[in-house]
Amino acid sequence: MTVIYILNGPNLNLLGQREPEVYGHDTLASIEAMCRAKAKGLGLDIVFRQTNIEGELVNHIHEAREKAKGLVINAGAYTHTSVALHDAVKAVGLPTIEVHLSNVYKREAFRHHSYLSPVAEGVICGFGPQSYELALEGLAAILKKKGKA
Ligand code: DQA
Repeated sequence: MTVIYILNGPNLNLLGQREPEVYGHDTLASIEAMCRAKAKGLGLDIVFRQTNIEGELVNHIHEAREKAKGLVINAGAYTHTSVALHDAVKAVGLPTIEVHLSNVYKREAFRHHSYLSPVAEGVICGFGPQSYELALEGLAAILKKKGKA
């Protein structure tokens, strides 16, 4: 089975309660269930995690280096601030898709810059929970092309 790590950053544990007008009513648990169903159809096995701590995200990315063939990451606000996450994704060299539920380009200017985009294979934002499904589809296609899935 091809393993993919899906990593979620700060405040995403509050999905469903947090600014529903921006992020919708789905919880992270329901997004995880959606990802599991999607991954099954694509022949992927997923490890799904959330942490509010930047260094833990770095550790999860390092762990993925040994255990996974690719990464899907919604780094939340760390997207816009974290050189450490940029470096970690670059260091492990796994094909990585950056995802966001909201269309960050429609929002405040400080969300328009991403430290992850320059080291990601692709970026998907603005589709709500479906952003994750689209990321999995895109990653599956990339891995297939590379002969890794
Ligand atoms: C987010 C967008 C970020 O700007 C924000 O800080 C988040 C969530 C999204 O999924 O839309 O926490 O990554």
